[in-house]
Amino acid sequence: MHSLFVCFTLTVMGITAPMLAAQKIALSIDGSKTGAKVDRNIFGQFAEHLGHGIYEGIWVGPDSKIPNTRGIRNDVVGALRAIKVPNVRWPGGCFADEYHWRKGIGPQRSVTLNPNWGGVTEANTFGTHEFMDFIDQIGAEAYVSVNVGSGTPEEAAEWLEYMTAAAPTTLAKERAANGHPAPYKVALVGIGNESWDCGGNMTADYYVSQMKIYSRFVRNFNPAQQEKQQMLKIAVGPGGDGPRWTDWTETVMKAYQQHTWSWDINGLSMHNYTVGHWPPSYASVGFGETEYSEILKSTLEMEGLISKHSAIMDKYDPDKKVALVVDEWGGWYAPLQGSNPGFLVQQNSLRDAILAALNLNIFARHADRVRGANIAQMINVLQAMIITDKEKMVLTPTYYVFKMYVPFQNAAFVPVTFDAGWYTHGAVAVPRVDAIAAKDANGKLWLEITNLDPNEPIEIEAGLAGITARAASGETLTAPKVDSVNTFDAPNTVMPRPISAKVQDGKLTLKLEPKSVTVVSVEQ
Ligand code: AHR
Repeated sequence: MHSLFVCFTLTVMGITAPMLAAQKIALSIDGSKTGAKVDRNIFGQFAEHLGHGIYEGIWVGPDSKIPNTRGIRNDVVGALRAIKVPNVRWPGGCFADEYHWRKGIGPQRSVTLNPNWGGVTEANTFGTHEFMDFIDQIGAEAYVSVNVGSGTPEEAAEWLEYMTAAAPTTLAKERAANGHPAPYKVALVGIGNESWDCGGNMTADYYVSQMKIYSRFVRNFNPAQQEKQQMLKIAVGPGGDGPRWTDWTETVMKAYQQHTWSWDINGLSMHNYTVGHWPPSYASVGFGETEYSEILKSTLEMEGLISKHSAIMDKYDPDKKVALVVDEWGGWYAPLQGSNPGFLVQQNSLRDAILAALNLNIFARHADRVRGANIAQMINVLQAMIITDKEKMVLTPTYYVFKMYVPFQNAAFVPVTFDAGWYTHGAVAVPRVDAIAAKDANGKLWLEITNLDPNEPIEIEAGLAGITARAASGETLTAPKVDSVNTFDAPNTVMPRPISAKVQDGKLTLKLEPKSVTVVSVEQ
């Protein structure tokens, strides 16, 4: 059981707007009670060969007029460094199960097709070395998904040997000849992607038999990753709610429980997008309060899904050795008009910032089991951090949430107790506020509070036990409208601004703007 007790005391029926407008919300935080570590890997990113996610978003080539380092955009690298990206999942997604790594190394690259995403040609100019260079430039670690769907264990094993072997094997020498004598570090390996669907339409039993083979033979030879920093192997997990998905988790976890010395997994992936309806039809911009509230209600389903699959995992892995890794999540809306529908281009609004905060808070509350997550996707695709157009770049509201949450990376979770009340719109009722707290390595307390209500401010009074609070300061992210976005012409519409907070007699008080994400730190 996680330790946040959110008591929704108001009943959904009979709440009126004037009552809500006057409401103050009290929070109780005991800074001496810390829980699980909020693994920084929950702030992971996902970069697939899809639309302009890689090409143009990251890779412009060394001859581009856009400032770059070995072909990788400097502006994008600078922005991503600032959000301290822990890991990047690559090369897919569905693309990963059709990716053959040899086509993306060496001086001669093969031009292939990308049938999943618009059927465009894939130049393979961004391959293993370029990816490793990119993550090195942004200070992140590699989360590589190997091809289980259309590849072979031999191909995947050779890729890992190529990347990680220090001994002078033929593959290691080939890597050196291609410009990197030292072995690369691969922190995480994904054994397939959505193997129940685009990754090969496998049954759970068939996948488990494949997973064991890949787990056994896809080895990391990097000497620096043998005792410490061992590569984590992530198995394909569920992709939604319902018996199909609980059966999948049961099958994989039951196999894990009986695993022998010869194979192992360290994580089970979960994919869950906030779509509203399939196919994605909600607009990403130009919407009102109805769509705002519906999407927030839909995104909160993440909580139930994680609880459900965690409970299954607990049955087979009570010591929580296997992490739940939500390696695809985020809002997935209708493609922007005029864009290639296969490129999954959408705008990113204040609603997405709030959606991101709510999901990150859910992951943090399940910190004992959820030890990884990758928002989809990093640049120009779905709920992106960054949008580019040729030489132009803009940071999205979601980017700023990831920036505000940096202090929560590897901080110790601290329970927050509160009565959230309800924000209602039409038939939708969601908690008015959400909050998490954590203590960083220096003992500083950090508090995040989201006001979901787009109309009413909230006065927060937080009782701080277990610490001697002296002062507090922080930032808040809001904007005039629920669908406010940052554009190339107006890049600062949705960005964090300082907020004043008062500390007196062990109580922190601050006023939250409607539809806002706020992070404050408490000086002791
Ligand atoms: O992120 C887009 C796609 O969504 C991924 O390629 C796939 O894994 C998922 O279905």
